[in-house]
Amino acid sequence: KKSLLIDADCGVDDAQALMMALVSSNVEILGITCCYGNTQLENVCKNVLRVLQVCNRLEIPVYQGASAPLLGGPVEGSLFHGRDGLGDVPDPNAPGLEHLQKEHAVIAMLRLVNEKPGQISLVATGPLTNLALAVKLDPTFPKKLKNIFIMGGNTESRGNTTVCGEFNFTTDPEAAYIVLNEFTCPTYIATWEFTCRNSLSWEFYHEWVNQDTRKAKFMKKIFAHTIKYIDSLRKKSVNHLEASGFVSCDSYAMAAAIDENFITESIKAPLSVELNGSLTRGMMVMDMTGHLEKENKAFVISKCDLEKFKALLIAALE
Ligand code: BDR
Ligand code: CA
Repeated sequence: KKSLLIDADCGVDDAQALMMALVSSNVEILGITCCYGNTQLENVCKNVLRVLQVCNRLEIPVYQGASAPLLGGPVEGSLFHGRDGLGDVPDPNAPGLEHLQKEHAVIAMLRLVNEKPGQISLVATGPLTNLALAVKLDPTFPKKLKNIFIMGGNTESRGNTTVCGEFNFTTDPEAAYIVLNEFTCPTYIATWEFTCRNSLSWEFYHEWVNQDTRKAKFMKKIFAHTIKYIDSLRKKSVNHLEASGFVSCDSYAMAAAIDENFITESIKAPLSVELNGSLTRGMMVMDMTGHLEKENKAFVISKCDLEKFKALLIAALE
């Protein structure tokens, strides 16, 4: 079985990615570490527990991590996911925070890689703050990982949060910089534009959430807010990439971690992050001409098997 460690800021697409991993028979989830991002940390933890509850998997350890980026104060969250990160649907039966582990997320990450050196795949679907803290506490952390799958960054100057910046990278640019420059393990990136260019049809979405299962009902409920938000974008004249179809960003990184045949083409290039630009802070930079003179094992995913992706999503709600 593949050993996965998942670091998430549990909004709706993180929930979708998580549910995908939870049903994959070739995967063992060693733990879920929480990071602020789509909503504040406490909500993120609660959201992860809610997802685990719907999937009857509350035995999986959940750890509380960073509550703010490396620099500056707490962030606003994103409009996409609702204030609570899961579409603002009341859930009176949500599990309490007493289900969380006492150990801090970053300490748990360091412990787990020491227990299984070279065997763990890390999937990161939120700002990279916990990962940056981990490598600063223990510089040998990345080399003890098997590989890492990140949803974040961009290949064009086309952002979803700033002119040029994608949410996970722009929310904590220093953390993204540290991870892209200090993680020496094979690194696979599902960028913002890649996920949008591989969006699914709304027909698929409706079939998916109209399966007659508890998990599908949960998904339909938590995604209703996002659908309204996407509709509002479509009405604006600006050409928003996310208005093109159903995009479950984080699920692409998860699918790549679960199934090694999901990625059908990728671009190998050293990567970094702009930290100083007034318009470009947080933007991912791909070094296509060797200017950075940097060794790398970074792969920016450019093509994937969408039939496999759909099958994984469908299985997630069965
Ligand atoms: C990323 O930002 C978040 O809003 C999503 O959960 C995803 O991880 C997309 O830019
Ligand atoms: Ca996310």
